Amino acid sequence: MTYSIIGSGAIGGALAKRFAEAGVDALIANSRGPETLSEIVGASNGRLQAVPLDEALGADVVILAVPFDAVSEAVKGAKEWNGRVVVDATNAIKFPEFKPADLQGRASTDIVAEAVPGARVVKAFNTLPAAVLASDPREGKSTRVVFLSGNDPDARRVISSLIFSLKFAPVDLGSIAQSLHLQQFGSPLVGPSFLKQA
Ligand SMILES: NC(=O)c1ccc[n+]([C@@H]2O[C@H](COP(=O)([O-])OP(=O)(O)OC[C@H]3O[C@@H](n4cnc5c(N)ncnc54)[C@H](OP(=O)(O)O)[C@@H]3O)[C@@H](O)[C@H]2O)c1
Repeated sequence: MTYSIIGSGAIGGALAKRFAEAGVDALIANSRGPETLSEIVGASNGRLQAVPLDEALGADVVILAVPFDAVSEAVKGAKEWNGRVVVDATNAIKFPEFKPADLQGRASTDIVAEAVPGARVVKAFNTLPAAVLASDPREGKSTRVVFLSGNDPDARRVISSLIFSLKFAPVDLGSIAQSLHLQQFGSPLVGPSFLKQA
């Protein structure tokens, strides 16, 4: 299984740290090119490889850690998705108010899914502030929870397994419709950090 992280800002950088510390290999790309990623790669114990965006979009699992409004532009160089898994870590936020964007009642992940036709989309890594996501998921005997949801049960299993490999505790909320009022920006699970007790 190959993984890539698209975006090297707050969330992309936090994920890069978790991949590196958990010993999971990943490609990483941003809008400015691999030469701008030497710091992240240098701190990754050899786990991260900086590549051009088009190459990163070819991974089995592609994690989108870019602004919601940038998703279409970020993925436009992808070849056929062919059932590959896309992880939507974005939040649809209206700036500068920092309020949920008005999506006319639609789930933001359904809008992301339209940009990646043929991919199986799972929402994950969007609920924790970046600094919390970057930090050690283990607190004493407890483990930080990462929520996920998506319409394809097998894709959810793939991402649950990745979350577990990154040393978090996955909590599967079911389909995108089921998670809409829990995991989308503005919902109760976005912001707080939950710990699963041993
Ligand atoms: N920050 C948080 O605490 C937090 C928490 C949960 C969820 N989120 C969500 O996570 C996503 C990323 O947030 P962030 O705070 O990490 O943002 P950020 O720090 O501004 O980083 C955004 C990253 O996206 C990349 N990017 C933008 N347009 C791109 C394009 N067309 N192609 C490729 N890469 C592109 C940027 O590339 P360059 O580096 O080349 O500019 C940058 O690395 C957002 O949707 C946000 O709502 C953020």
